[in-house]
Order: sequence, then structure tokens, then C-alpha cells
Amino acid sequence: MSGDLGLFIAQLFRKPHQVVALAPSSRALSAEMAATLDPSGGPVIELGAGTGRITRAILDRGIPADQVHSVEMNPDFCDKLRTDFPGLNVYRMSAGDVGALEVTGAQAVVSGLPLLSMPFDLQNAILRGSFAQVGAAGSYIQFTYGPKPPVKAEIREAMGLTWTTSRKVWGNLPPARVYRFTCPGA
Ligand SMILES: C[S@@+](CC[C@H](N)C(=O)[O-])C[C@H]1O[C@@H](n2cnc3c(N)ncnc32)[C@H](O)[C@@H]1O
Repeated sequence: MSGDLGLFIAQLFRKPHQVVALAPSSRALSAEMAATLDPSGGPVIELGAGTGRITRAILDRGIPADQVHSVEMNPDFCDKLRTDFPGLNVYRMSAGDVGALEVTGAQAVVSGLPLLSMPFDLQNAILRGSFAQVGAAGSYIQFTYGPKPPVKAEIREAMGLTWTTSRKVWGNLPPARVYRFTCPGA
């Protein structure tokens, strides 16, 4: 992961509205994001992969690289992901189009996106597209720094989302919590 922090900070200054974080996710937060993934449970879709901290944790959890589908809109981050993780499927596109990905049987969407700062229509497209991929048995996993669920209340209610939350991960800047959403009606 050499150059990880430098690249992240450079992109934070160039595209602050897309990166929206003080630093890449820590090892502890990344491990919590991947903790419930099943190594033999099928493909995983990652949104907003950035420099690949959470990608690394997904692979360390035992998901084969060719079953990880990482979506990232920043071209420099995409280049780094392709270099650092041979065999990984990297898509340079908006997470709003996640529903169009050709992935069969995904078990989860793991999101490092700045979801809370996104407009309603984009957040709605991300959640609906994600559950079109994972169905009722799958989950949408998202960290947040704040005290409230990271999905807008209107979307949670309209989709009938349920969720669990992790303990607070103090070893991250800033401390964060992981939400695991399911959509029984998907
Ligand atoms: C807070 S950073 C997280 C990076 C990394 N996952 C981590 O946890 O360290 C947010 C990432 O989401 C990407 N991003 C923001 N909006 C996006 C969108 N609409 N589609 C795809 N990626 C997006 C940014 O380029 C950035 O890499």
C-alpha cells in the first residue's frame, strides 16, 4: 500500500466532494466492514473502493479476487486498484449504476461511499441497484461517522430496510460504525 496516503490526500484536494474523508479507512474499520462476508458465499460488490483499504480486507476475508467487483469513479484510484490487486474486477463508473453490473449471485455490497453527502436520487439509485444485485438474502454494508443511519429515512421506509450496527470502531479517523442493511422485500 505504498503511496496510499499520498494519493488519497492528493485526490481529496482535487475532488473533495467525491472523496469526503480525512483519511483512508483504517485496518480495524476495513476488517469490520468485511467481517460478515462468507468466503464461499459468492461474489462481493464494492462501491467507492478508493485506494483499496476495504478491498484488501475483503480479500483477506477469503473472497477470491475474481469474485470481487470494485466500483470507483476516480481514474487514478482505478489505476492503483488494478496495479495492487491482480485479478480484481475494477469498474470506472458511478455507483449509481450498480444495478446494471453483470454479476450473478452477489452476497453483499460493501460501500465506502460518502453516502450521507449524496443527493436523494443518487442515494436512492445506489440502494435500489444494490438490492437488485443481492436480493432479500444479501446485505448492503456501509460505514458512517455520524450518530444516525447513513441511508436517508425516506429511502429506508420506502424500501422496508432493516439493519444491525457494529460496535463503534475507535481505531479510525474519525471513529466510525458499520451498518448492515437488509431488504426483506427485495
Ligand atoms: C471516503 S472515500 C473511501 C475510500 C475507501 N473505500 C476507504 O474506505 O478508504 C470515498 C470514495 O468513493 C468514491 N466515490 C464518490 N462518489 C462516487 C460515485 N458516485 N461512484 C463511485 N465512486 C464514488 C470516491 O472517489 C472515493 O474513492
